[in-house]
Amino acid sequence: MSFPNTRLRRLRTNPAIRAMVEENSLSPADFIAPLFIVEGNGVKEEIESMPDYFRYSLDRLQSELDELAEVGIRSVLLFVKVPDEKKDNKGTEALNDSGLMQESIRFIKESHPEFFIMTDIALDPYSSYGHDGIVEDGEILNDETVAVLAKMSVSHAKAGADMVAPSDMMDGRIGEIRKALDEAGFSNTGIMAYSAKYASSFYGPFRDALDSAPGFGDKKTYQMNPANLQEALREVEQDIEEGADIVMVKPGMPYLDVVKAVSDNFNIPVSVYNVSGEYAMIKASAKQGWLNEEETMMESLLAFKRAGADLIATYFAKEAAKIINR
Ligand code: PBG
Repeated sequence: MSFPNTRLRRLRTNPAIRAMVEENSLSPADFIAPLFIVEGNGVKEEIESMPDYFRYSLDRLQSELDELAEVGIRSVLLFVKVPDEKKDNKGTEALNDSGLMQESIRFIKESHPEFFIMTDIALDPYSSYGHDGIVEDGEILNDETVAVLAKMSVSHAKAGADMVAPSDMMDGRIGEIRKALDEAGFSNTGIMAYSAKYASSFYGPFRDALDSAPGFGDKKTYQMNPANLQEALREVEQDIEEGADIVMVKPGMPYLDVVKAVSDNFNIPVSVYNVSGEYAMIKASAKQGWLNEEETMMESLLAFKRAGADLIATYFAKEAAKIINR
């Protein structure tokens, strides 16, 4: 039936009918809150390129965790900033059972046992070269890196991590991590695979946050070419076969077609990473008075759900949850 019998505006007449026919919605349970943790005491420092977002030392993290819990967020994704003197080319510090990441996991498990703790698995914050893997003659070694990532995952599991999140894009890492976790008795520790992670310039502010920018070259030999979609489906398929529990697409806003294709083609929870550059764009325009921060934030988060994402890792998690709850 077409016009005038059909008038689609009838379903937009007022807030009540709009709410009745709404197809997608956001809930605080959809969000994963990334946290940046630093060594030391009394540290809560704003990240210059990520306004209103902070690095915390563990003693200052408590109040942030309390606030997240209060708004209904229970899932956190941990990143640590490692001082230069602890960086090398082998990820030695990543395997330190008393390292900052491992201590952070124990701290959160103790103070907020209801939280679901996910941890970043990649060598870049620990690497003197700022690359996600071990470097030799200017190349990023695959299998040697995977062996370290598997050990790193076990170390996080031992400290109490609920799920590890490999963000490195080495081949075969999901299978090796799964095997290592199982052999160490952690068959219940999950894996959220950054399956379709693109070599993106939208990661800039994150690399400022962790001082983890690559010292030479770029990440194009391991992260995906932004031109490709079919390849993303191959990556996802492999990670599922190797034992991933959740697959991720990253970045988010410029890659909604990838989120949609993954969610249409596979029966597995899909997460999307609303990355630092996407956050910075909205924050910067809002500070200029050029965009309405609250509205553009909520609109972009909702778009992820419409594209088929089940979970959203976002620096807006707390602010958005507050708005949903009010
Ligand atoms: C590192 C990692 C990166 C992000 C998450 N894990 C950066 C990179 O690959 O260089 C980016 C997150 C963001 O930009 O918000 N393996």
